[in-house]
Amino acid sequence: MANVVVVGAQWGDEGKGKIVDWLSERADVIARFQGGHNAGHTLVIDGKVYKLNALPSGVVRGGKLSVIGNGVVLDPWHLVSEIAKIREQGVEITPETLMIAENTPLILPIHGELDRAREDAASKGTKIGTTGRGIGPAYEDKVGRRSVRVADLADDKTLETRVDRALEHHNALRRGLGIDEVDRDALLARLKEIAPEILSYAAPVWKVLNEKRKAGKRILFEGAQGALLDIDFGTYPFVTSSNVIAGQAATGVGMGPGAIDFVLGIVKAYTTRVGEGPFPTELLDDDGQRLGERGHEFGTVTGRKRRCGWFDAALLRQTCATSGMNGIALTKLDVLDGFETLKICVAYDLDGERLDYLPTAAELQARCTPIYEEMPGWSESTEGARSWAELPANAIKYVRRVEELIDCPVALLSTSPEREDTILVTDPFAD
Ligand code: GDP
Ligand code: IMO
Ligand code: MG
Repeated sequence: MANVVVVGAQWGDEGKGKIVDWLSERADVIARFQGGHNAGHTLVIDGKVYKLNALPSGVVRGGKLSVIGNGVVLDPWHLVSEIAKIREQGVEITPETLMIAENTPLILPIHGELDRAREDAASKGTKIGTTGRGIGPAYEDKVGRRSVRVADLADDKTLETRVDRALEHHNALRRGLGIDEVDRDALLARLKEIAPEILSYAAPVWKVLNEKRKAGKRILFEGAQGALLDIDFGTYPFVTSSNVIAGQAATGVGMGPGAIDFVLGIVKAYTTRVGEGPFPTELLDDDGQRLGERGHEFGTVTGRKRRCGWFDAALLRQTCATSGMNGIALTKLDVLDGFETLKICVAYDLDGERLDYLPTAAELQARCTPIYEEMPGWSESTEGARSWAELPANAIKYVRRVEELIDCPVALLSTSPEREDTILVTDPFAD
């Protein structure tokens, strides 16, 4: 039986939520393995819109096990309110259908406060444009060995010790930034209040998932963000604070790398980015404006306008390699309808030299200009297409050229936000 990892192949918001929801029909378990509620995954099912941050996108289907793995950083208050909101939309969530790894580090209010204080204090050029949700500081505490983790909620004495350890560090930082010290007792009271609900979902996820795998169950790993926001391989320092690429799926739940059978990269037919950082194919003209309007490119989490640009095959070659992609799901092809000419970046020009990948140093990245290949667009609508036969010849040519340039086949094609407006080429779950 196959296990499939879904990862974003650009700077996030590629349509992972839609594809995970679509694929989840074929899976038994859907597991998040990194990131936190900085993610905003949108599903549209028969016109009804669901927005998920921390919950896996398989949760809406019902009858599946949704898992939050140890690679995630979890804001318990946000999760509880997200569960309540999704329940109001008629989705059932119980300890039988949702499981949280006991070794998951928590995001506390101090993390969000620190994240926002740093961003406010940052000068031009150093601001990252984070979601302000405390993701970076929470991962810093994990690596610094001072996190409060889900399991710590079970025992008051342990919880107090863990909180005191974290506050020692945070109060020193806060004094430096001119923020009030933390009210320890109020924080502990809030944690003790939320503990029973969070603990009702807590489980040894590594054990459960390894047993499921042995029993032949299918696991769908749901990535958040995108490979270009990866802490190691993204456009550092304008990245998120976790590993986003496919290898993290195993570490982020407690399985071996052999558990991954198929890596599906989610790829938008053009490029977008929210927040600061390099973006070689960014369009600051009417074409960029048009992509943003047609694609409704506004962030799900912060409402910020997403920056838009042409498809960048050079970056895709990198992300296909670092995640070992077996296939891609190409999304938002419909947004390109009506463009007379489309451009694809195939390489960069750096001081007169041709480079087929983006160099690592930020200073060199800034000097790279895209080398484009032009393709004719199409005037027909692809919106809602559910078969190749419904696609205009030039749209098929564009898709084929993308496959060729990135050396990775299209497994799925998405032509609208709706669940069923999806074309299956190769089933990632097929044995
Ligand atoms: P994610 O973070 O990768 O899950 O993506 P988001 O949900 O943040 O952003 C993708 C947006 O595009 C959502 O509003 C989706 O409903 C929408 N979307 C997904 N696939 C398609 C598609 O094929 N065509 C169009 N027009 N919209 C899509
Ligand atoms: P999904 O899962 C797009 C970006 C932020 C910022 C940088 C760091 O919906 O694709 P952080 O709050 O993580 O410290 O911010 O990463 N970012 C995303 N951009 N989609 C996301 O998630 C993102 N999650 C974080 O805008 O530039
Ligand atoms: Mg998103």
